[in-house]
Amino acid sequence: MVASDAVPVVRRYDLVDAAATEHLGAAIAAAFDGAVRGVILLRGDLGAGKTTLARGCLRAFGVPGTIKSPTYTLFEPYAVGRTQVLHMDLYRLADPDELWQLGLDAYPPEEALWLVEWPERAGGGLPAAVLEVELRHSGARREACLKGDGRLLDRIEGAAGVESKGVC
Ligand SMILES: Nc1ncnc2c1ncn2[C@@H]1O[C@H](COP(=O)(O)OP(=O)(O)OP(=O)(O)O)[C@@H](O)[C@H]1O
Ligand SMILES: [Mg+2]
Repeated sequence: MVASDAVPVVRRYDLVDAAATEHLGAAIAAAFDGAVRGVILLRGDLGAGKTTLARGCLRAFGVPGTIKSPTYTLFEPYAVGRTQVLHMDLYRLADPDELWQLGLDAYPPEEALWLVEWPERAGGGLPAAVLEVELRHSGARREACLKGDGRLLDRIEGAAGVESKGVC
């Protein structure tokens, strides 16, 4: 579910290579500039590009060094200015009830930004999302469907080279 009173908009983007996936992540980060909080769901099959997009987002927020998916720790917090960006990979969450035993209370999405891979594993236990990203294989390439408030999607498209190719 997308947290907004407005009817969410769904738009499709072609991602010709991994750099394009990272670039879309960076455009998403730019759209959150000044209000780095909320929940972003990253859906898609194994290898669809979720971590690549999260990495692009974190890089654009200025996170240096290696950014690997937190496969075993399930989440990794990164300091971004005075707030925190959480990169979560719930693939190995054994039970949805375990979600709030991970220590997430320290990072409420009213104050932190959550980037959540494999949100399905939480069984609906996640707070409402401001943006849902679905990544799909398209031959060797990928495509992304973004679902969210139209003003947010317009801000994401404000980045050079990010252009919607219609609806999903
Ligand atoms: N647009 C793209 N075109 C081609 N390859 C891509 C694209 N985006 C990402 N990739 C590549 O796809 C591979 C898998 O990416 P990534 O690890 O981000 O997927 P994932 O969805 O996080 O996988 P997992 O389900 O295992 O967490 C990587 O080699 C990455 O470089
Ligand atoms: Mg991943």
